[in-house]
Amino acid sequence: MATSRRTLIAANWKMNGDLSLLGSMLSAVKEVNSDSMAIETLICPPFTLLGAFDTGSSIAKGAQNVSQHEGGAFTGEISVDMLKASGCEYILVGHSERREIYSETDVVVAEKFVRVARTGLKPVLCLGESLQQRESGMTNRVLIDQLAEIIKISDANDWENAVIAYEPIWAIGTGKTATPEMAQETHALIREELRANDVTQPVAETIRILYGGSMKPDNAAELLSQRDIDGGLVGGASLDPNSFISILRAAS
Ligand code: PGA
Repeated sequence: MATSRRTLIAANWKMNGDLSLLGSMLSAVKEVNSDSMAIETLICPPFTLLGAFDTGSSIAKGAQNVSQHEGGAFTGEISVDMLKASGCEYILVGHSERREIYSETDVVVAEKFVRVARTGLKPVLCLGESLQQRESGMTNRVLIDQLAEIIKISDANDWENAVIAYEPIWAIGTGKTATPEMAQETHALIREELRANDVTQPVAETIRILYGGSMKPDNAAELLSQRDIDGGLVGGASLDPNSFISILRAAS
């Protein structure tokens, strides 16, 4: 990680966790955070736990998804304003599980990104290729296309507080991790693409690009030592306070 970018370690609980896990996670993380403020910690629990998440702590609160619409007749959806009112600072957009299982297109992801940014919250934009795309040499194309839709409808201000999470789909929940070199190469490509577009060029050096996909206590330090890897988006290992704080320690 480059020293000018503050490391961000984010937990994505997906459809897991309860009040008891929230309590034990918050107290475990607070202990580590008091040792090192160099790292920013974010927890994205399911929506129903957001109200119980004490924002008085040094831990940022985030949501895993949001509607692209402002409000109205969208049964089962949740708006950015609602998440803002519940104290969220960050919102994940375009997680591969949303794209694959719920058919979210690049266009929908772009709409969500812009709505989150324009409501004053911080979008965490997830990007990533499938195994088949990687094996057929399509990785760069896929990532550039995923970014392009957003670049098309956003302006430079929308990127000011954004974070990117590169998550190769084949590494999510599979125990397979991109090698640190492979991840670094892809992160560098994403940063290069941000430099090449007028809208994103102003944030290209400062935006944090997190790695996600089977980040664990035993591989975190090496991944996070790469120049363009500025943190992690952690799924499975964020459901156990001991594993998660080991990753926070590895990051410091
Ligand atoms: P994983 O999930 O750490 O379990 O691979 C990461 C994610 O999907 O955000």
